[in-house]
Amino acid sequence: MSETQAVPQDPQLADNPLYLQRRERADADKPPSRATALGAVASVRAPGTSSRQEMMEGILAQDGDLVAGHFGTVHYKPVTVCGVELKLEPLQPSIGTAVHGIDLATAIEEPDMVAFLRALWLERRVVAFRDQSHLTREQMVAFAERFGEVGAPFGEREHMPNSPHDLNQQIKAPGIPDMLVLPSDATVPNAASGWHCDATWQPRPPMASVLMCREAPPVGGDTCFCDCYGMWEGLPREIKERIEHLTAVHIGTVGHQMDGVTPVAVHPVARTHPETGRTTLYVQQGFVRRFAPEHGIPEEEERELLRVLKLQEGRPEYTCRLRWEPGTIAMWDNRAVLHSASGDFWPHRRLMERLTILDWDQARRAPYYAPVP
Ligand SMILES: [Fe+2]
Repeated sequence: MSETQAVPQDPQLADNPLYLQRRERADADKPPSRATALGAVASVRAPGTSSRQEMMEGILAQDGDLVAGHFGTVHYKPVTVCGVELKLEPLQPSIGTAVHGIDLATAIEEPDMVAFLRALWLERRVVAFRDQSHLTREQMVAFAERFGEVGAPFGEREHMPNSPHDLNQQIKAPGIPDMLVLPSDATVPNAASGWHCDATWQPRPPMASVLMCREAPPVGGDTCFCDCYGMWEGLPREIKERIEHLTAVHIGTVGHQMDGVTPVAVHPVARTHPETGRTTLYVQQGFVRRFAPEHGIPEEEERELLRVLKLQEGRPEYTCRLRWEPGTIAMWDNRAVLHSASGDFWPHRRLMERLTILDWDQARRAPYYAPVP
């Protein structure tokens, strides 16, 4: 089917002004913008094409004979919890575990299972569960509620973005206003590519995020996670000493505006994880452009410090990469990892659903730094 005949991934988009703008670009046969990773990768995959349709056909031809399947050796740790035999597959040595053999619709009824999963999540920062496509959106909420208070789509309710510039906010899961539905298709390429933590422009950002994959591209669209403990540990000592007691300014984008106001929050640069007591580097350059002005750091030094911190983002040794399948659901600790979607899958479809979780303990929601003497 040609793209001009395509229907939007969600019927709520059909009359949406942002969708119609993208549709216009598609109808004019303009390739996706190379200013985004999705457009840049598409132009790499289909070199020498200037028409959108031609580019799309070239990529779909490359991926047309891919079949879904698993083979090869996977190392995993077998463990039995509450009578359920689980297989725990490490995604990388220090971060990320894929859990096989669990049914989240029923397993979370067992408090001991929930305690096990929480401990695993704190230790590994990212846990993913395969084969959960049977979970309804309501069951996703029930899962999230076992770990904390389910927040609004961007965490606490005092700042709820209503920007007309963000397509992601225009689609509502019927009956579940706390869920963010994230579609991407040939007409509306969409991927949160770029290292960030969710909603750190909130004064009390969400503790965790839960993401369910409903539709996965046959190749690409992975989510990558970066360990903020590793980012802190890997800094030279003199840099740690220089930044340890600084704070940084986190600024939302135009898409995060509420009633036209861009959200801003100031958070410590070194953050104590409120449950593990360990130190993380809490600077995500998706939202951080400067340190708080009261530190009086000269512009040149500020630029150089941010450059050094930026080098920690996405180092292979600190990261894991999660390959999505329909029915994979992941929960990550926003206090201890950055994440970035891999914007490499246009023109394939990808459909995700996200929930945020707030700490039950309100005193632990605002980031703080309390070094051990
Ligand atoms: Fe995100």
